[in-house]
Amino acid sequence: MLAGKRIVLGVTGGIAAYKSVEVCRRLVDAGAHVIPVMTAGAEHFLGATTLSALASEPVQRSLWNEASPIPHTRLGQQADLIVIAPATARLLAAYAAGLSTDLLTNTLLATRAPVVVCPAMHTEMWEHPAVQDNLAVLRRRGVHVVEPDSGRLAGGDVGAGRLASPERIVAACAAALDGGPMAGWRVVVSAGGTREPIDAVRVIANRSSGKQGYAIAAEAARRGAAVTLVSTVDLPGPAGVTIERVETAAQMHEAMARLAADADVVVMAAAVADFRPVAVAAGKWKKDQGAPPIVLEPTPDILAALGAAKPAGQTLVGFAAETDDVVANAEGKLRRKHLDLIVANDVSRPGVGFQHDTNAVTLIRAGGRVDTVALATKERIAGCVLDTVCELRADSSHPTPTPAEPSAEQGASS
Ligand code: C5P
Repeated sequence: MLAGKRIVLGVTGGIAAYKSVEVCRRLVDAGAHVIPVMTAGAEHFLGATTLSALASEPVQRSLWNEASPIPHTRLGQQADLIVIAPATARLLAAYAAGLSTDLLTNTLLATRAPVVVCPAMHTEMWEHPAVQDNLAVLRRRGVHVVEPDSGRLAGGDVGAGRLASPERIVAACAAALDGGPMAGWRVVVSAGGTREPIDAVRVIANRSSGKQGYAIAAEAARRGAAVTLVSTVDLPGPAGVTIERVETAAQMHEAMARLAADADVVVMAAAVADFRPVAVAAGKWKKDQGAPPIVLEPTPDILAALGAAKPAGQTLVGFAAETDDVVANAEGKLRRKHLDLIVANDVSRPGVGFQHDTNAVTLIRAGGRVDTVALATKERIAGCVLDTVCELRADSSHPTPTPAEPSAEQGASS
């Protein structure tokens, strides 16, 4: 996978810069043509001579001093892959903001090749919301992030932020070039809360922001899947994802049933209204008419219908937003709706569920395995959900529940 590929190895100014030498050596050993680019900061930590000696070409450092008059576009245009190891908080911020102040940031903007960033920094910096927000932006744009390890850091500190091992970095480069572990899969994700009209201007809605569904769609696309997102919200679409906008439960039902028929993976992350007004008033209901008599009827349970019609080999994932008996309630939904996996969250906990940028979940598989994921960004939760989906699909023995009668259950909307 790496043999014959032109790989730009970006090295930024962190103490872990010395480890880029090992990454470079392994890429060259795997047959890649490696062009190192160092930032001014990197040179405080690593001599360019070392990297030049091991790479396929000498280190490039400047926008202005190289033999080529336009190194800022040439490098990026010709690359098959760009990997930044280590990536400092500054590099992540500049890349997320689209700043092009040096050769490396210019190269990042002038490429259509896959990009792998390998952050390394002190724990306080790694956990800072500014750094995590920048990573979320980059992930949404399709950038591959190799998360740092926990361990010994510079200055004797211990914690998260240590550069991932050269093995992991090289494996991530190979996976990014490969098209990703979900290449060839059709994935359908729903996101946001449905809105059920009362009259021409008013709706019954819920607090869902759609952020978790968007993060799952972005992560699936980054892993190589062809992703369609059925969404009720107006967020910018993740890179490479096709968006279908819907508003009501009925519209979402139609879109999901149509798209799920030939999907490999369906993730129902939307918060669907369980009830809708039976009649929609024509025009705007006037205040002086008094309070409108709103009679509600159940909406279709989309997920239960998808479970009942599930094609062989499809992996069906549901969500369960709960406030009590989280695991027991979610297990009931998993069984009744014929799911392969349910993602349960306790939305009464701080930082969990609707509208937050973070979430904490319990992943319950049809086979009975239960995994908990502590509070993390919705992007990281998305990674855990899709890791589990990949494991389920890799394990051909995973039980696919047999669809029976469609469930009549109408629980609280998540
Ligand atoms: O039963 P409950 O509504 O709690 O189940 C939540 C799961 O079911 C979520 O995945 C949600 O998207 C889905 N759902 C649905 N149609 C409904 C209600 C919920 O697909 N009418």
